[in-house]
Amino acid sequence: MKSINLSPIRVGLLGMGTVGTGTFNVLQRNQEEIRRRAGRGIEITMVADLDVARARAAVGDGVEVVADARKVVASPDIDIVVELIGGYGIAKALVLEAIEAGKHVVTANKALLAVHGTEIFAAAHRKGVMVAFEAAVAGGIPIIKALREGLTANSIQWIAGIINGTTNFILSEMRDKGLDFDVALKEAQRLGYAEADPSFDIEGVDAGHKVTLMSAIAFGIPVQFDKAYVEGITNLAAQDIRYAEQLGYRIKLLGITKRVAKGIELRVHPSLVPAKRLIANVEGAMNAVVVQGDAVGTTLYYGKGAGSEPTASAVIADLVDIARLHTADPGHRVPHLAFQPDAMSDLSVLLMSEVVTSYYLRLKVADEAGVLAKVTGILASLGISIDAVLQREADEVGGEGATQTDLIILTHDCLEARMNEALAEIQALPTVLAPITRIRKEELA
Ligand code: HSE
Repeated sequence: MKSINLSPIRVGLLGMGTVGTGTFNVLQRNQEEIRRRAGRGIEITMVADLDVARARAAVGDGVEVVADARKVVASPDIDIVVELIGGYGIAKALVLEAIEAGKHVVTANKALLAVHGTEIFAAAHRKGVMVAFEAAVAGGIPIIKALREGLTANSIQWIAGIINGTTNFILSEMRDKGLDFDVALKEAQRLGYAEADPSFDIEGVDAGHKVTLMSAIAFGIPVQFDKAYVEGITNLAAQDIRYAEQLGYRIKLLGITKRVAKGIELRVHPSLVPAKRLIANVEGAMNAVVVQGDAVGTTLYYGKGAGSEPTASAVIADLVDIARLHTADPGHRVPHLAFQPDAMSDLSVLLMSEVVTSYYLRLKVADEAGVLAKVTGILASLGISIDAVLQREADEVGGEGATQTDLIILTHDCLEARMNEALAEIQALPTVLAPITRIRKEELA
């Protein structure tokens, strides 16, 4: 038991908001068990927040509270800097300064790492310090640990995740209550699941950051958010959720990354998922990630993707890892991106037009002879095979028997570029009366 007599490792925390407060509280509450696990105490000794009074109220008198985060980064008494400020601006400068000062860094900042990760990990490698980021992906779910360590025997084949709680909550409300997107978004904002400016969440950017990080770890490629295809949920209509249901599917915003013969797929978009899959039944603000490895098969990770103590759980797990490993030779630690820095892959990220997947199409068409034949003829001419067709009863529009109807088509797998061609041709038909809705479909088998 000699190790637990070591002096505590000293942590400086930047940003004392929801997650910072949760981290402080959980460390206090569970300090004895955490000390027994880590082999030494973990103490937050310094906190920086522009709102000094709020931070002081959260941590009490025993901790130094400053407004200037640079004081924490520069302090010789701090071993680990926890960055909970967020964004790419000041957070990037502070993380790089902490690394230059030889401090380990723990961050929940997915945006920073997905965009500037290559620079940050290279700096950390040069300085022999750790940059840990479990809290950056799916909050409390230990998915980084699972991918980087637990599944290290596997050749990972694909990952598909519900990794944004805000959008999953909105989609659940749309399905449960038949709400339109705008109404469900307002409800999410009223209940605190969506921020006043929800654009990063609803446009798929937040999920894009997270899947970029998982992709890098799964396949040993650099973090490349700029190559990710990102589409959010703002154009989803309640009727598509209903039609999908009639066909045995749920619509989820998925972050998907997949190894295929030509490279790596990296994409976020709404997807139809068979209703019988476990992940299709993840509701509300919960997160879930499915990982397919060649040896283990399919594994599923489920839990809270945000919130004060769930995210603190991930931050503290990283602190414990660092407390255990900081004296190890850097070459013997788990590499930042799971693969050794000199053994990364140069597999390229595919353009969305190179992705092969299946589709749900909704067309508003004139209900007259030959319309379906024309549409299916175009699909057939491009080698796109139809899986199912659903035609809703026709509505009378404009009297005198003129009618229009919704035509729903599910396709088998085809190249996205081919589908783009087909959609352009079908859209140009005079009997197609409104912009076509296209939603991708993932069987996740
Ligand atoms: N806003 C995110 C979500 C949580 O809704 O899941 C932090 O990434």
